[in-house]
Amino acid sequence: MSERKPYLAANWKMQKTIEETEDFLDRFVGDIGDLSGKDIVVCPPFTSLATAVDRCRRSPVRIAAQNMHHAESGAYTGEISASMLTSIGVEAVILGHSERRALFCETDSELALKLVAVLSAGLEPILCIGESEDEREEGQMEEVLRRQIEADLEQVDEQALSRIVIAYEPIWAIGTGKTASPEQAEEAVGFVRSVVAERDSAAASQMRILYGGSVKPGNAEELLGREEIDGALVGGASLDPADFLAICEAA
Ligand code: PGA
Repeated sequence: MSERKPYLAANWKMQKTIEETEDFLDRFVGDIGDLSGKDIVVCPPFTSLATAVDRCRRSPVRIAAQNMHHAESGAYTGEISASMLTSIGVEAVILGHSERRALFCETDSELALKLVAVLSAGLEPILCIGESEDEREEGQMEEVLRRQIEADLEQVDEQALSRIVIAYEPIWAIGTGKTASPEQAEEAVGFVRSVVAERDSAAASQMRILYGGSVKPGNAEELLGREEIDGALVGGASLDPADFLAICEAA
């Protein structure tokens, strides 16, 4: 890994009640020790956010949401705005996860608006991008990543670019147990950095770019040991406090 501060995020998806969130955090925060040199972020469902913020108040762990709407308020049934998140102490938000793109038809043009709203609210965006298995097999990985980066970051000012965290998550590796090899992950992360560098090379060298897709305690060290890979967005293995802690320690 480089001099960029390692970044480890737990994406719980639609899992854990408030009680389960408390149980996880009491164990995780209790065992965390000194991880002050790393950014550790837990992303529970909306209903657990306030509890999670409260439970992590005296710990280095920060809390992120898994989605938000770009508008400040309005007739958007079922949605949550940036100020609603900041008002309860949430500090970051996942945007454009492949499940949201595929299952909820989230588009790059919506994500471009969300990124601007997140940054102007002072939240840290964790932008997910990645190719499908077919796209990789057809040799389109770079084209897909470039298209997503260019469209999603289109309206972001140069000065704000380095505040974005990008998670490269090949869709074929998410929840499948089929991890990208460290070489594949590093190659793609390096490509993402090179596309950002076309906009601003200083921002690209400061930006944290993570790998996500079946990261587990058993493969974390070899993935996170790669120079280009600045951390991980962890789904399944982040539901268990001991497993997520082992991944954080491996970074
Ligand atoms: P996984 O999920 O670790 O369960 O593959 C990663 C993600 O979807 O962010």
